[in-house]
Amino acid sequence: MAYEALGKNGDDLQGKVIWITGASSGIGKALALHLARKGAKLILSARNEDSLKQVKDECLSNYSGQSSDILVLRLDVTDFDSHKEATQNVLKHFSKIDILINNAGRSQRAYASQTILDMDKALLNTNVLGVISLFKAVLPSMLTQGHGQIVNMSSVSGKMGTVFAATYSATKFALHGYFDAVQTEIFDRNIHITNVCPGPVISNIIQNAAQKDFDQPPLKSADGYGERSFWFLMTAERCAELTTIAMANQLGEVWVSRQPILFLTYFAYYLPHLYSFFGKRLGKKRAEIMLESQKQK
Ligand SMILES: NC(=O)c1ccc[n+]([C@@H]2O[C@H](COP(=O)([O-])OP(=O)(O)OC[C@H]3O[C@@H](n4cnc5c(N)ncnc54)[C@H](OP(=O)(O)O)[C@@H]3O)[C@@H](O)[C@H]2O)c1
Repeated sequence: MAYEALGKNGDDLQGKVIWITGASSGIGKALALHLARKGAKLILSARNEDSLKQVKDECLSNYSGQSSDILVLRLDVTDFDSHKEATQNVLKHFSKIDILINNAGRSQRAYASQTILDMDKALLNTNVLGVISLFKAVLPSMLTQGHGQIVNMSSVSGKMGTVFAATYSATKFALHGYFDAVQTEIFDRNIHITNVCPGPVISNIIQNAAQKDFDQPPLKSADGYGERSFWFLMTAERCAELTTIAMANQLGEVWVSRQPILFLTYFAYYLPHLYSFFGKRLGKKRAEIMLESQKQK
C-alpha cells in the first residue's frame, strides 16, 4: 500500500496520551501494542478488565523501554452515564488526552429481517451512541488544551452495505454522517477527525457478534487462526500499523483493506449506480456461499 509514502510513520506519537476503546481484543489490542512500541502513553478500555491487564502486561514486557505509563480503565461504551467520570479519571492520571480512538464495536451475522430489534438497539448503542457519548465527554478537555484528535474505527461497511450486516453497516454509515457534521463545528479549533475504514480483518468480531445466525468458516492466517486460509483478510497488526500512519498524518479518512474488497469499495463509492447493479448480485452470491458452508457443518 502507498501509505508508507506519507510523511509520518507514527514515531512522533511518542509521549502522546492515547485512549483506545475496545483494547482487549483484535484491532484494539494490536493498536495498543503498536502504539506502546511507538512510546505513547495509553489508556486501555473495554469491559473485560482481565484481558486489558494482559494486554497491558504484553505492552510492558515487549516495550518497557518505550512505553511505561499505561492505565487500564474498565469502560462499557453503552454505559453512557459513566463516561464523564471515566474521562475525569483519565485526566487526573495524565492531565490531558491527545487522541481518543473510538475502536470498540460489535457486528452481526444475520438477515436484517431476522435480526431481533433488541440486537439492532445493542449495535446502535455500542457503535454509534457509545462513540457520540464518549466524544462529548472528551471534547471539552481538547477544546481547553487547544488540540486533539478523534479516530473512529469505521469500516468499508460504512461505505457500502454488507450482506448479513445491515444494522452494522447502518451504524458505520451513521458515524460518517455525525463526524462530517462535527468537523464543520471544530475544524478551526485544532481538533482533527480521522475515520478509518478497514476491510475484513482477522479478529474476534464474528465470535463476538451481537446476533450470529451463521458461523464464520474456519480461518487460517500466518498467525495460526483455524483451518482455512483467506487471502483477502488483513492481520490486526497490519491494520493497526496503517491506522497509526493515518493517525500520525492526521488524514481525514482512510480505507485499509486487501483486494478485492478495496477495489469494490472504490467501485461502490465512485460508480454507485453501476455498483448497485453488481453489488446486490455479489452480496447474494456471498450469502449463498456462507449458507452453503453452514449446511456442510
Ligand atoms: N474485524 C474486522 O473485519 C473489522 C473490519 C472493519 C471494522 N472493524 C471495526 O474494528 C473495531 C474493532 O473490532 P475487532 O475486529 O477488533 O473485533 P473484536 O476482536 O471483537 O474486538 C472488539 C472490541 O470491542 C470491545 N467492546 C465490545 N463491546 C463493548 C462495550 N459495550 N464497551 C466497551 N468495549 C466493548 C471488546 O471488548 P470487551 O468485550 O472486553 O468489552 C473488544 O475489545 C470495531 O469497531 C469493528 O467494527 C472490524
